[in-house]
Amino acid sequence: MLAGKRILLIIGGGIAAYKSLELIRLLSREGASVVPVLTRAGAEFVTPLSVSALAGGRVHTELFDLTQEAEMGHIQLSRAADLVVVAPATADLMAKMATGRADDLASTLLLATDKRVMIAPAMNVRMWLHPATQRNLATLQADGITTIGPNEGDMACGEFGPGRMAEPAEILAAIDGAFGRGPLAGKHVIVTSGPTHEPIDPVRYIANRSSGAQGTAIAAALHEMGAKVTFVTGPALVPPPKGVTVVAVETAAQMLAAVNAALPADVAVMAAAVADWRVANEGSQKMKKDGTGKMPALEFAENPDILATLSRSDQRPRLVVGFAAETEKVLEHATAKRLRKGCDWIVANDVSPATGIMGGRENAVTLLTESGAEEWPRMPKEEVARHLARKIAEAVQG
Ligand code: C5P
Repeated sequence: MLAGKRILLIIGGGIAAYKSLELIRLLSREGASVVPVLTRAGAEFVTPLSVSALAGGRVHTELFDLTQEAEMGHIQLSRAADLVVVAPATADLMAKMATGRADDLASTLLLATDKRVMIAPAMNVRMWLHPATQRNLATLQADGITTIGPNEGDMACGEFGPGRMAEPAEILAAIDGAFGRGPLAGKHVIVTSGPTHEPIDPVRYIANRSSGAQGTAIAAALHEMGAKVTFVTGPALVPPPKGVTVVAVETAAQMLAAVNAALPADVAVMAAAVADWRVANEGSQKMKKDGTGKMPALEFAENPDILATLSRSDQRPRLVVGFAAETEKVLEHATAKRLRKGCDWIVANDVSPATGIMGGRENAVTLLTESGAEEWPRMPKEEVARHLARKIAEAVQG
């Protein structure tokens, strides 16, 4: 329930604005008070009357409304809220937010607020994928703004791809999560992510290829659903999500120690690409060429398997989820891996170069549980993460 919470809802100009009417209804039903702000473009898609009727109060539209300025002022409007939600967040609104422009009420409120901000982007797929929008998105995420969606699917413009606004129920779940009231509230989840680096000498290392994008998205989705997340990450290419406890490690041994130190936990999701071997004869000084043209022989020792160790530990979380990144016979290998490692679920995917999954935006996974295999369609990594987080919530609640 969101009783007593005040949500400033900024409705941008996009066809998805009609879904924001449903969002207002859902929020009101949960007891939140919604203060709606309609941009000029937003008012082309939904009327101020329908917004204010559903919100049960006035809708704010213009910056220089003097009565309103005298009574409350745009600064106060943005501060009185407990949370600011932008839905739909258009490409234009995102660009204004990323550059700090304040040329209308919505963008001024967004610049003036000291509260957490969530955006639910919605736009044409090309506009979403445009480098300018992706750059703005990265800036907004680095600023600590939470994004919900966009989802992939058929679009009003007739194209297909990422750009559809997240469904009102998904936005509501994220809002619940922001107030620690999501379905995973009170649950502690450990997520491992990224590669590990195993030193050869002080300047060299061996590693797996891993951007950390999928693990980061999973940690963010679990946090959105209200979980307390300990994010144990190797040196990843993408920054860790906001709102989680980050434990940065380099080697597999450090990762295992960090996971053990984070216990007890209700759930563990091991998405890290851990190096299977470390260099046993690690040089304490930088190794030098000796003129023979031969590389010094490296000796390897097997690393501890964090997933298998955790699955068999006395402090085993109730649900342990592993990953299987394979380049062939994906299901066969993943099925064997689930049993060998003793985990409950395996998220299996094909990472052979032709799939473009490694380091890419999308993932196509199969979830293996004791009751069989569930193949999910190819979708953005953020959506895979939200699907998985929902499954996890169902499993630990049930
Ligand atoms: O054996 P493989 O590396 O393919 O197994 C993948 C799964 O096992 C992933 O969930 C990964 O995080 C985990 N793993 C681990 N410790 C290792 C190797 C893999 O936790 N040393």
